[in-house]
Amino acid sequence: MSTIAYAAKRLANGDVVALPTETVYGLGALCHDDSAVQKIFQIKGRPSCNPLIIHVRDLVQAEKYGVFDYQAKTLVKAFWPGPLTLVVPLLPKAKVSRYVTAGLDTIAIRCPSHPIAQNLLSLCSSPIAAPSANTSGYVSSTRFEHVYQEFGDKVTVIESDRSIVGLESTIVDCSESLIKILRPGKVTQVDLENVLNSRVSTSDTKAGSAIKAPGQLKHHYSPRAEVRLNATYKEEDEAVLDFGASNLRGGGFGLNLSPEGNLPDAAANLFDFLRHLDTLGYPKIAVAPIPNKGIGVAVNERLSRAALRKE
Ligand code: TXA
Ligand code: MG
Repeated sequence: MSTIAYAAKRLANGDVVALPTETVYGLGALCHDDSAVQKIFQIKGRPSCNPLIIHVRDLVQAEKYGVFDYQAKTLVKAFWPGPLTLVVPLLPKAKVSRYVTAGLDTIAIRCPSHPIAQNLLSLCSSPIAAPSANTSGYVSSTRFEHVYQEFGDKVTVIESDRSIVGLESTIVDCSESLIKILRPGKVTQVDLENVLNSRVSTSDTKAGSAIKAPGQLKHHYSPRAEVRLNATYKEEDEAVLDFGASNLRGGGFGLNLSPEGNLPDAAANLFDFLRHLDTLGYPKIAVAPIPNKGIGVAVNERLSRAALRKE
């Protein structure tokens, strides 16, 4: 039996499976299965108030779970399969565990482009609910090795290449007429506005959009080491993340997110490099400035959450 067929069997059996997607690795369970979905929350240590994204084969399957209006369908047509999640009104009779939606009347839906994720979905009787495959609050996983490091043999892991985007999907709220970005990602505000031919708003998490995206509020993506942003020098006890021509590390140790100054490369390397530096035991990580354009917006958003200290 192939690994993918085996993983599909595990899912049908009520188990949790770690699967590769083009954004990051996910920790999946069949979305109608209450006890399997609850296992995800347990394994991640995730608060039950933080809803999950369901992963679908296509729009036909998505429409069994959510209501897609004209704008939502326009986005689907332009960006699916791919790294865009739509929050849409929950279809009242959708066969989805209440633990997935955390009691909200909306549901987050994404159609991944990764061939293994697509192949797995084609073998499953329902969509796969999957958060990123990391302990709640820690750095997301872009390699299967990261998943093993965190969860050992608690889950079945589908081993594949590293996630090419490297940052989680862009999330847009399509439940109201003005489309709003809840989480930036590879699909940018400009990309969305070009396709919709109208303005798209960005969420101001400081103002407290707590009801719309509970998981978007707190510190997140945080390595154990303290993260210092926009660094122009390195302190003695710091590991370094450079970008482009910056050379904070000087003669010392550090990694460069993209020596060529390429933002998609920096995005793809970010979580991997943060994890790597975190294993070396430095108390702090100094990060060079990253241009705030294109996918750099999402890189900076993840970094600024990583830099928030835990209460
Ligand atoms: O790229 C991705 O999106 C990855 C891969 C595995 O697909 N998944 C991922 O899931 O990043 P997670 O659980 O780590 O992040 C999902 C975010 C959470 O912040 C959650 O609060 C938000 O989506 N979310 C889920 N359902 C929502 C809803 N109905 N309304 C608003 N936000 C929602
Ligand atoms: Mg996550």
